[in-house]
Amino acid sequence: MWFPTTAPLTIFNLTTLIILSTLTAASGSNCRTTCGDIAINYPFGVDDGCGAPQYRHMLNCSTNLFFTTPSGNYKVQSIDYKTKTMVIYDPSMSTCSILQPHHDFIMTDIQSAMMPPSPDTVFALINCSIDSPVLNHYKNLCFNFSDHSCEELYGSCNAFRLFHLVANVSSPPCCFTSYDTVKYMSMNILDCTHYTSVINTDSLKGLGPSDWVYGIRLSYSMPETGCDRCSQSGGTCGFDTETEGMTCLCSSYVNSTRQCGAGSYEGGGHASTTFSHALFLFTGALLVFKMIL
Ligand SMILES: *[C@@H]1O[C@H](CO)[C@@H](O)[C@H](O)[C@H]1NC(C)=O
Ligand SMILES: *[C@@H]1O[C@H](CO)[C@@H](O)[C@H](O)[C@H]1NC(C)=O
Ligand SMILES: *[C@@H]1O[C@H](CO)[C@@H](O)[C@H](O)[C@H]1NC(C)=O
Ligand SMILES: *[C@@H]1O[C@H](CO)[C@@H](O)[C@H](O)[C@H]1NC(C)=O
Ligand SMILES: *[C@@H]1O[C@H](CO)[C@@H](O)[C@H](O)[C@H]1NC(C)=O
Repeated sequence: MWFPTTAPLTIFNLTTLIILSTLTAASGSNCRTTCGDIAINYPFGVDDGCGAPQYRHMLNCSTNLFFTTPSGNYKVQSIDYKTKTMVIYDPSMSTCSILQPHHDFIMTDIQSAMMPPSPDTVFALINCSIDSPVLNHYKNLCFNFSDHSCEELYGSCNAFRLFHLVANVSSPPCCFTSYDTVKYMSMNILDCTHYTSVINTDSLKGLGPSDWVYGIRLSYSMPETGCDRCSQSGGTCGFDTETEGMTCLCSSYVNSTRQCGAGSYEGGGHASTTFSHALFLFTGALLVFKMIL
């Protein structure tokens, strides 16, 4: 008998716990690995306790995958795990084909730090008033990308043509700028009535606005939590929902702090192996329990 007889009650409690979690595991605490047609891998998770805690509560898998920020739910178009980028789309923003009133794009501080829009995402502020900060004190925040100017946007997009055709009056100002501008100044402060955002801006040379790709590309960073070790041992990286400490999810009912144990926990048959292991512990504990009574 290898149980330390000095702590039979602890073992008993522990065993009960293992049995209980084994029994409740059937209801499934597994981490979903897809949402719609989008793969969900580390550092992301759509179920609480899955992925990295830094990205907790950011994804919402309802009908589709949504990225949740204080300003709304943005549909996730794609996640590229190689380049560590995620493309999201704000259905309420304007594009070349639809004019919609502006709406701030707001990220939490953690989101801005962990997954800021990539440098190849350009925000176009449209129909700005002549008092707009980006036409005055902050005019150096505006630039032309890949030889494109705002005039072109007004000229070739159905949605923006109304700004182009104002008789003799020149078109209202517009500004191509980076995320930092909209991060620090709300649309009301910027004093522009509409905005759109364009990705892949480095490769749009010679392409007209109707062929641009509208959306926001976020460039995420990988938290240093030691997930490699866990996934190499066959586990899924997650975290404790109370402490947010890293947890290696070995199966739906066995968690470990770093990696899944060698041998019995690996490969198929997790359920039966662990269940009989738990039963063995349970029987052992009962014996010890009887012995001391
Ligand atoms: C393992 O961790 C997940 C995520 O935190 C949690 O939902 C689950 O209850 C844990 N299981 C056990 C057996 O502790
Ligand atoms: C998830 O996103 C959808 C789509 O915008 C929204 O209707 C729903 O309320 C969101 N759910 C949560 C829990 O945020
Ligand atoms: C453009 O901006 C002006 C104020 O600067 C506003 O009065 C006007 O309604 C805006 N145009 C559209 C189409 O929203
Ligand atoms: C952008 O291009 C337009 C038209 O070619 C030009 O008038 C404007 O000065 C340029 N702006 C910047 C910031 O280079
Ligand atoms: C347009 O400009 C012409 C000449 O510059 C002027 O005669 C005409 O009244 C202007 N029309 C409008 C609508 O401002």
